[in-house]
Amino acid sequence: MSQERWTEVDDYFEAALVGSDDVLEAVLRTSVEAGLPEHQVSPSQGKLLALLARLVGARRILEIGTLGGYSTIWLARALPEDGQVVTLEADASHARVARANFARAGLADRIELLEGPALGTLDRLQEEGAAPFDLVFVDADKPNNPAYLDHALRLTQVGSVLVFDNVVRDGAVVGGDGSDAKVEGIRRMTEQIAAEPRLSATALQTVGRKGWDGFALALVIEPTD
Ligand code: SAH
Ligand code: DHB
Ligand code: MG
Repeated sequence: MSQERWTEVDDYFEAALVGSDDVLEAVLRTSVEAGLPEHQVSPSQGKLLALLARLVGARRILEIGTLGGYSTIWLARALPEDGQVVTLEADASHARVARANFARAGLADRIELLEGPALGTLDRLQEEGAAPFDLVFVDADKPNNPAYLDHALRLTQVGSVLVFDNVVRDGAVVGGDGSDAKVEGIRRMTEQIAAEPRLSATALQTVGRKGWDGFALALVIEPTD
């Protein structure tokens, strides 16, 4: 099967079920104009994130890796009016584009963008005793996924869901010689999830406009502290 057909199928379901609007189109346009990498989730994946947020009744969402704010806006729209997305971004130019997009979306009051390397920000959130998050979307530098998983466990509660993007990477997750830091990050994270009694998890491969990749999904099933 070809990339072309995968994209056509995404087009079909996006037209039938997902839709788009001026705000989401503007995010994509301003991101390209600003030279950001086109690494945002697809429309169908953005809708999946929003549906997961609704399924768990999320009021507080943590996102690691904002880029231009495309996934952030999908997540923020799934929140009740008093809900909040906290999104972490290391790159100042990405953060600038994202902030403008949140303002354009009318969601600036529901989204808190914390600029700087995520590991430092996560330490700070914990020190400050941040209230638990109901959904965590991990979509930043893959070598740090094991550390992001540790933080996510400390910042969530029973019933929270963890979503990790890009866990398949054209099948690389099962290949290689251990020298690819991104792949190793995903594999160590997977082993940690497997050994973690507080999580029940699966991973799904996807094909579509972003090629062959996938998500890992984990539900927090026992108390965290
Ligand atoms: N979630 C976005 C895509 C994120 S792309 C969407 O689907 O729309 C990954 C982002 O993570 C990039 O913007 C990159 O700058 C950011 N990033 C990479 N390493 C990071 C780090 N250590 N801390 C915070 N952000 C990081
Ligand atoms: C890459 C990162 C992503 O988060 C993504 O969804 C696609 C690609 C990358 O670094 O290549
Ligand atoms: Mg991603």
